[in-house]
Amino acid sequence: MKIGALKEPSFENRVSLTPDVIDALQKLGFSISIESGAGNQAFFSDSDYQQAGAKVLPKSELLGDSDILVSIHQTDADTFSKIAKSKLYIGTFSPLAQPTKFKEMANFGMKVFSMDMIPRITRAQSMDVLSSQATVSGYKAVLLAAANYSRFFPMLTTAAGTITPARALILGAGVAGLQAIATARRLGAVVDVFDTRPEVREQCMSLGAKFVEVEGAADASGSGGYAVEQSEDYQRRQKEAIAKYAEKADIIVTTALIPGKKAPVLITKEMVESMRKGSVIVDLAAVMGGNCELTQNDATILHNGVTIIGNSNLPSTQPMDASKMYAKNIVNFLKLFVNKEKQFNINLEDEIINTCLIADQGEIRHKAILSLLT
Ligand code: NAI
Repeated sequence: MKIGALKEPSFENRVSLTPDVIDALQKLGFSISIESGAGNQAFFSDSDYQQAGAKVLPKSELLGDSDILVSIHQTDADTFSKIAKSKLYIGTFSPLAQPTKFKEMANFGMKVFSMDMIPRITRAQSMDVLSSQATVSGYKAVLLAAANYSRFFPMLTTAAGTITPARALILGAGVAGLQAIATARRLGAVVDVFDTRPEVREQCMSLGAKFVEVEGAADASGSGGYAVEQSEDYQRRQKEAIAKYAEKADIIVTTALIPGKKAPVLITKEMVESMRKGSVIVDLAAVMGGNCELTQNDATILHNGVTIIGNSNLPSTQPMDASKMYAKNIVNFLKLFVNKEKQFNINLEDEIINTCLIADQGEIRHKAILSLLT
């Protein structure tokens, strides 16, 4: 089978396959083509791919030549119209966040696999693009906060006086949040954390952060690793608790997401106005409406002296490692399609394959996405 990696839209610096995974894919029995220039913005040149054993092709040839197309973002309608229905298309299409856009793609008839729908089971960890890219976002969020913050992060004792450490508040201790905690701690900040899942307390504490629990959160243990919406009473009590910490915080990183739903508002306008001037909020939930009431998606604003950053594509700002991690996820996913005899096989009895195959022959197969479309 032939795999073709498409060039991403101009706003994206990452690429879905990197030269270091070509060998592993060939050993699985695949031959690989890359759209010319696809890796440029992640600092992988066409010749890097050729040296690794891949072909570099113009898009028109790549579309005809490949059985499986791979990308990160959903490609454009013009490209879809040139892809045969028999082909497979693998990417990260956010079908829960943008079901209508996804349906437009599904109508072209290919077998569409969306990597962000991978079930949160142990076997799937090595293919989990949400986790790998959230690692990048959590790290970069803190670096962005530090770069925009008016003061130092660490405590400093100097001849010119003593500087107290920055206080960081992290909302949501999933993959991005834990990476944000670790990064903020490495830079010397004092870190407080909120999450609706009390089971993350120990992970936060082991990274040197204080976990603040608001009791009575809805049990999320049956939701496949994702958070669930909370009752009005819980939300009110949580807001009161967060307000006390926000007032003291110099840096806030918010990461709270609920799949397919608007992000919960955890930081109100009043809380922002209670913060010290020169403080920074980085809202990683910006694309789903933001955890801060004032966040603007893909924009940085200044409100009452507080910088609020709503960049929702931070992995693109760290394109080399983010692409490598994404490419590794794709290789591990494709391993599921190759049997011991190195034959390609779409085994729908495999839970991971079955859950990720979102559309086939123009039909949406996923109940949650169908319900969003009706
Ligand atoms: P996410 O991006 O869906 O959410 C981020 C965090 O925000 C979560 O920890 C969530 O509990 C928290 N949150 C949601 N609403 C909140 C609210 N109102 N207030 C405070 N916090 C709130 O989560 P992510 O990072 O994708 O993963 C969450 C967990 O899923 C991980 O910690 C891990 O245990 C599990 N997981 C399992 C995988 C596997 O087994 N293959 C792969 C990835 C994650």
